[in-house]
Amino acid sequence: MMTFDEALKTAAEKVHDRPRTAGRLSGKIAVVTGGAQGFGFGIAQAMYREGACVMIADMNAETGVAAAKALGERADFAFVNVGDEESVKALMAATVERFGGIDVFFANAGVAKAGDLDAMTAQTFDFVTTVNYKGYFLCAKYASAVMKAQFAADNTLWHDIVQMSSKSGLVGSKANFAYAGSKFGGIGLTQSFALELAPYQIKVNAICPGNYYDGPLWSDPERGLFVQYLNAGKVPGAKTVEDVKEFYLSKSPIHRGCLPEDVAKAIFYCVEQLYETGQAIPVTGGQVMLA
Ligand SMILES: NC(=O)c1ccc[n+]([C@@H]2O[C@H](COP(=O)([O-])OP(=O)(O)OC[C@H]3O[C@@H](n4cnc5c(N)ncnc54)[C@H](O)[C@@H]3O)[C@@H](O)[C@H]2O)c1
Repeated sequence: MMTFDEALKTAAEKVHDRPRTAGRLSGKIAVVTGGAQGFGFGIAQAMYREGACVMIADMNAETGVAAAKALGERADFAFVNVGDEESVKALMAATVERFGGIDVFFANAGVAKAGDLDAMTAQTFDFVTTVNYKGYFLCAKYASAVMKAQFAADNTLWHDIVQMSSKSGLVGSKANFAYAGSKFGGIGLTQSFALELAPYQIKVNAICPGNYYDGPLWSDPERGLFVQYLNAGKVPGAKTVEDVKEFYLSKSPIHRGCLPEDVAKAIFYCVEQLYETGQAIPVTGGQVMLA
């Protein structure tokens, strides 16, 4: 296993060693944290289809290995716990060892633990903050080091760090402040990293999606949020999961949930656009509108 310092050297040496693929991410090496399932997996599929080599990085090795296999030979799996510094460093080294560098880092791993002020424990608050906020800092710290080494080897190159925020990073979320706070905070990091990393031609942007109702977070029949909200009586008058779903769908003028493909298009825009950084881009079907 390569050390992190060896990875920096190798990334600089192999900066032009990229597969000749076609598509909007042709010849790019992408990392997707939390890529084993949900949004991350769908976006990893879209990146792969657009020509990227994709490292699926996740805590769930079983699902992650299967996800990488499902993509094909330009994909692989690496274990990571984004809240753990050594684990994040090891992910960067594993990616450089496998593919030769890192061009696009998508910090997607995230957890949601709802609860009002009475219910939220300090322990749960720390858990959400560690994964969603500190985890993004650690990923940006070590991914940007690899990208800086690549830029030092060829100063015509541009690289991207993209943070998976949420519409709850743009507007507050009732009884869900641990999550919303971590996503708002992440946008503060995104803006600050963008200022710091622009001289190295590393763009840093956030995507703020609406709810992915078809994904496991919402639709899991036992633990999904639709069932949880029905059982908790969160939607007044709702008698079925369908009632709860309609309540949420009606919040977007474009009357459907967000899909991985919608988010992937925003990421491709960030990568292709060389004249924008530090932005938080909503993908919410019009539920959240910027001034
Ligand atoms: N689902 C939604 O409606 C929605 C809406 C807006 C934003 N988001 C954001 O999208 C991202 C993905 O959400 P999802 O709905 O696909 O979630 P999900 O629970 O379906 O998948 C999350 C993945 O992240 C992995 N993961 C969790 N903690 C990790 C850690 N510490 N290190 C590495 N991997 C870890 C899990 O194993 C899982 O594979 C999150 O950042 C979430 O906040 C989700």
